[in-house]
Order: sequence, then C-alpha cells, then structure tokens
Amino acid sequence: MPLVLGIESTAHTFGVGVASEKGEILANVNSVYRPVAGGIKPSEAAEHHSKVAPEVLKKALEASGVSMESIDAIAVALGPGLGPCLRVGATLARYLASLLGKPLVPVNHAVAHIEIARLSTGLRDPVVVYVAGGNTIITTFVDGRYRIFGETLDIALGNLMDTFAREVGLGFPGVPRVEEMAARGRNLVPLPYSVKGQDVSYSGLLTAALRLYKEGRHDLEDICYSLVETAYSMLVEVAERALAHTGKNEVVLTGGVARSPLLANKLAKMAEARGARFASVAPELAGDNGAMIAYTGALAYTAGVTIPIEESHVRPLWRLDEVEVLWRK
Ligand code: FE2
Repeated sequence: MPLVLGIESTAHTFGVGVASEKGEILANVNSVYRPVAGGIKPSEAAEHHSKVAPEVLKKALEASGVSMESIDAIAVALGPGLGPCLRVGATLARYLASLLGKPLVPVNHAVAHIEIARLSTGLRDPVVVYVAGGNTIITTFVDGRYRIFGETLDIALGNLMDTFAREVGLGFPGVPRVEEMAARGRNLVPLPYSVKGQDVSYSGLLTAALRLYKEGRHDLEDICYSLVETAYSMLVEVAERALAHTGKNEVVLTGGVARSPLLANKLAKMAEARGARFASVAPELAGDNGAMIAYTGALAYTAGVTIPIEESHVRPLWRLDEVEVLWRK
C-alpha cells in the first residue's frame, strides 16, 4: 500500500500531508499566510511558505509516525496557482525526491479538492461544486477526465465575499462574516443575477452590492442577505443543470467555501428535489491542505503517474480538464 508525502503551496497555504492510496490520512499539517491588509500578495505568501516549510515538514513527519525512508513517493501541487508560491513547494518536493531517491508525482490542485471530497463523503461519482477564494467550478467525471460544466467568467465566489466584506468593514474571512449579517436580513434587494450559458459572472454583482452599500439606503444586513441569495442561487442553477445534463445522482461541495452552511443547505435542497444525494467535504479538509495532495498523489502514483525532476516545472494555469484521471475507470 503506497504511502505518499504531499506538498501544497499554490496560494496562501503551505501544507504537508502523508496519506495512503486507501485513504488513510496519517498527517495533515498546514500553515496559512494572512495578509495584514488587502488581498494576497504572491511574493509575501511565498516568503511565508519558505519560512514555515522546514517546521511544517518536520511536524507532518512526526505526526505521521513514519520515517522519510518508508515514504514511497513525493507528491506536489504544481498548479494551478501563484507562480512564486508554487515554486516553494516544487523546490522542496524536487529536493526531497532527489535526496531520498523517491519518485516525484505531479498533482493538480483542483483535482485534489475533488478527490479529497470523494474520500471524505464517500460519494463515488458526484457532480462537484468547487468553490474557494480563487476558484468557482462545476465539474464531473466524464470519459477519463473531470470536465468543466460551468465556471466563473471573472472573479471567484470566495473572492467576491472576501472583497465585499473587506470593503464594508466586516473583516476576513468574508464568507462567515457576510453570512452572519445575511442571517439578520429580511428584505431582498434586486442585484444582478448573471448566469451566462453554463457560466456565472460575479464581478457585476460585487460592484452593484458595493454601490448599494455606498448609497446608504439599505441596511447592511439586507445587502448581505441579497448578495448571498443571489450569488448562491446562480451557482445552484448551474449545478442543477450539470446534474440534469449528466444524469448523475450525487452532488458534492468542496473547497474553502464548502464550510458555508448556507450554500450547503441550498445545494442539498436542489439535490433532494432531483432525487440526488448531497454532501460537503469535512470542514478540516475544505480549505487548501497537504493531505489532499498526498492522497491524490497516492492515487496517481498507484496508477503509474510520475514526472522526471527536470520536467517538473510549475504550471500556474494548469486546468483541471487537462489531467488524465488514470485512477478512475
Ligand atoms: Fe484550493
């Protein structure tokens, strides 16, 4: 049973996990960079990652209870993500692989969010709603790959919420802060609902919600309520269409925003109405983490996926649907 050490460093999180192909997670140690003000600055995040890397690696190995020698392969998220951040993880992974003479396994970060959600929920072949600070994707497995059935045309759902929360003084992270206010909202104020074909667009919604706030004619509670209702309903509509189109009977929610009880609730209702099962990834595996890279790396390694060190360059724009998912029949 192959054991794989996985390294995550695509954005704000530096993480190291140890997992087996059977889904045992022996370690999952993560350190998150928090910008003092504003959004993520790639060079600062990369600096954070370099600083914490030795300690995170050490803690993960200790937690796993296995020695470096008994690890079968080193997996690393080569993309998609921020170049400077990706390079920290890739450099460490290459170093460990060459030092220990272990194979290197490339992992796509988005694929890892999907695989950890399947493991965590037990859903086998779901329509996947992957929502995070930098991603909003509806995808499902068809014919050897995770095909994209819808995505954001501009900013991600997490980014929408974080930016709105920051601009109106609610702080970080955006989703729980905005949802807390939304729970006290009573009046739905019309905001742009933009589903274009199978895709969603959130930037117009952000601009309109901020304009409402600046006009000062509505309570912030009502604006948050309207923002959440509009943004989530758009996503649920696209997910429902993917479900209808593919004829699948499971829906899973994954990514950092998967910790949202409101979004989960909306998706659960939609799934129930269509006779489908719904589940969210476990909260501790929702955000970026090393365990999901280790586990997906173990699946890939078992299916024969490795990469020569000299070809293991980072891929900031690596799309989900470019990955051949050899471990699924
Ligand atoms: Fe992520």
